[in-house]
Amino acid sequence: MSYETDRLRDRVAVELERARDRTVTLTEAVDDGDLVRQHSPLMSPLVWDLAHVGNQEELWLVRDVGGREPVRRDIDELYDAFQHPRRDRPALPLLGPAEARRYVSSVRDKVLDVLDRISLDGSPLVEQGFAFGMIVQHEQQHDETMLATHQLRAGAPALTAPPPPSSAGAVAGSVLIPAGPFTMGTSTEPWALDNERPAHRVEVAAFHIDRAPVTNGQYAAFIADRGYDDPRWWSADGWAHRQAAGLTAPQHWQRDGDGWAATTFGRTARVVDDAPVVHVCYYEAEAYAAWAGKRLPTEAEWEKAARFDAATGRSRRYPWGDDDPAANHANLGQRHLQPAPVGAYPAGATPEGVHQMIGDVWEWTSTDFRGYPGFVAFPYREYSEVFFGPDYKVLRGGSFGTDASACRGTFRNWDYPIRRQIFSGFRCARDA
Ligand code: AVJ
Ligand code: FE
Repeated sequence: MSYETDRLRDRVAVELERARDRTVTLTEAVDDGDLVRQHSPLMSPLVWDLAHVGNQEELWLVRDVGGREPVRRDIDELYDAFQHPRRDRPALPLLGPAEARRYVSSVRDKVLDVLDRISLDGSPLVEQGFAFGMIVQHEQQHDETMLATHQLRAGAPALTAPPPPSSAGAVAGSVLIPAGPFTMGTSTEPWALDNERPAHRVEVAAFHIDRAPVTNGQYAAFIADRGYDDPRWWSADGWAHRQAAGLTAPQHWQRDGDGWAATTFGRTARVVDDAPVVHVCYYEAEAYAAWAGKRLPTEAEWEKAARFDAATGRSRRYPWGDDDPAANHANLGQRHLQPAPVGAYPAGATPEGVHQMIGDVWEWTSTDFRGYPGFVAFPYREYSEVFFGPDYKVLRGGSFGTDASACRGTFRNWDYPIRRQIFSGFRCARDA
């Protein structure tokens, strides 16, 4: 076997192991009672995520890629996300914690054997390790979902992490991105998922984009100005939701004297004024932007600001260039369990000086989730295509809870505009 394919195999094995280490950390942090409990109707019990991760790995890598016999055919239906809504999952005859752990590790043993033996070219599914990369990203995405479940869990803190770096200097104002076409999406990034493809030219009018996400301090000023009580700032749908849900502040915020505190993974502390606001829904982001005399960026604007290199006319993989994310580029990977203050990652800024587009908080865009021109579902419609349409808004950039393997300049996330249990924030833009 060639040196190149050996390196690819090693990289796949390392990424599979990193994902599993994260899953183990998140599931060993709590006791069995906590693993099988439903902490919110929006979330699965952690033990469901655990076995679901193993079941997807079995379906794609053991059975499809490996052509091997099923490990457990009898449980497919239980772990098919489309068969049972999250709120019904605790009542299912799920594998218990010990059984789920045995299941995922026996699947993994078989996958490592498949990885050793198969050829990594020949079919689009395995070319450049795609199917393995897809499963790595799937596990890492569920690890972020499990982190969001931890955030909703009551009781004593179970997770700890060092605080993020402090700011290296204030980042204020916006930059002008001149009019012109750029290449959006990718046809070359080996582990890019179907909804990021294909690369295509998009014409974008001139616009201004803020150099930093909206901070807690800025958001608190919107609240203090009675922004939640003024329908002028809210869209019709947004105001209806604000009224029905009784929204008055980001999720987890509580008054603390004349300021605000928030409960984060079981610990309550004053909100950090210069850190990006998190746990806001699309409608709150939209209302803040209107109050500030701005708007949310479109998805194309966000990606052009993050990727377009005016000097060469090409699109970079990341805001800082083509290098994979390092610890000084972005707050990713659950290294810190909160967004870092604005200005904490100067090495991750774009050449124009737009900071923290990758990491810290997912950023709401004003764009509905749809396929790009030339979209082809691959390898299954249920990853992306069944969600296309007006019901979901696109979020970009990843959060402190997102792994680098599941985050890049082209990566697309989506959710309902009312959702805020995810690590969601935003930055503003305006017309030029
Ligand atoms: C891309 C985060 C919206 O969690 O619903 C996990 C990722 N897809 N299993 C989700 C996903 C299938 C997906 N998001
Ligand atoms: Fe899944």
